[in-house]
Amino acid sequence: MDGAALVMSGLTAWQGLFEHGRLRAGQTVLVHGAAGIVGSMATQLARAAGAYVIGTGRADGRKTALDFGAHEYIDLENEKLQDAAGVDLVFDIFGGDITNQSAGLIRSGGMLVTIAGPTEARPVNGSTIDFVVVADPNQLNEIVQRLREGRLRTYIGKTSSLNDAVATFNSADRVRGKTIIRVRP
Ligand SMILES: NC(=O)c1ccc[n+]([C@@H]2O[C@H](COP(=O)([O-])OP(=O)(O)OC[C@H]3O[C@@H](n4cnc5c(N)ncnc54)[C@H](OP(=O)(O)O)[C@@H]3O)[C@@H](O)[C@H]2O)c1
Repeated sequence: MDGAALVMSGLTAWQGLFEHGRLRAGQTVLVHGAAGIVGSMATQLARAAGAYVIGTGRADGRKTALDFGAHEYIDLENEKLQDAAGVDLVFDIFGGDITNQSAGLIRSGGMLVTIAGPTEARPVNGSTIDFVVVADPNQLNEIVQRLREGRLRTYIGKTSSLNDAVATFNSADRVRGKTIIRVRP
């Protein structure tokens, strides 16, 4: 099951942080949606790389984000995003107004990386990259190795049989974490 949960989120986080964001040890990264599937992966990878990680999300995401390794958490429902001013990199999953506000939090020359689609938001003297994840066997190998060694964990919210797959996805219940469909009984 970990394999099914790992590929998209792991590669997206890896490419956003290291390939596009060029994150280095000692830098500070703001990870939006840190209690979500991609954000929890980005949080773990960034922390393991020696970065200081500030996660964001809803109030009830705080514990999850801290458990995944965020040093700090900004609850976007009750706290000020501006408290994160001065970061080197923003890893954005939201788009819209949060992305626009986030550009202003980045130190001069820093980076805004988003997976939420094109944006006009730009950090001062810095750059913005929006990207779509691509297959990369070498990166996947690195990620799988970390999982095998217990240095990375997936965020699985629910598992379902193939027979129940449609009902699972149509369910009104909010599932946090990845939903996995078991093809074999
Ligand atoms: N470009 C790419 O290659 C690529 C790759 C993968 C994913 N994506 C996109 O990236 C996005 C995130 O994917 P994901 O799988 O990580 O989703 P997810 O697991 O639902 O994570 C999103 C997180 O953000 C929180 N959140 C959502 N809206 C919020 C708001 N207005 N204020 C505060 N917190 C909020 C969610 O909280 P709740 O759970 O409480 O709502 C959740 O913790 C999706 O739009 C997905 O399509 C793009």
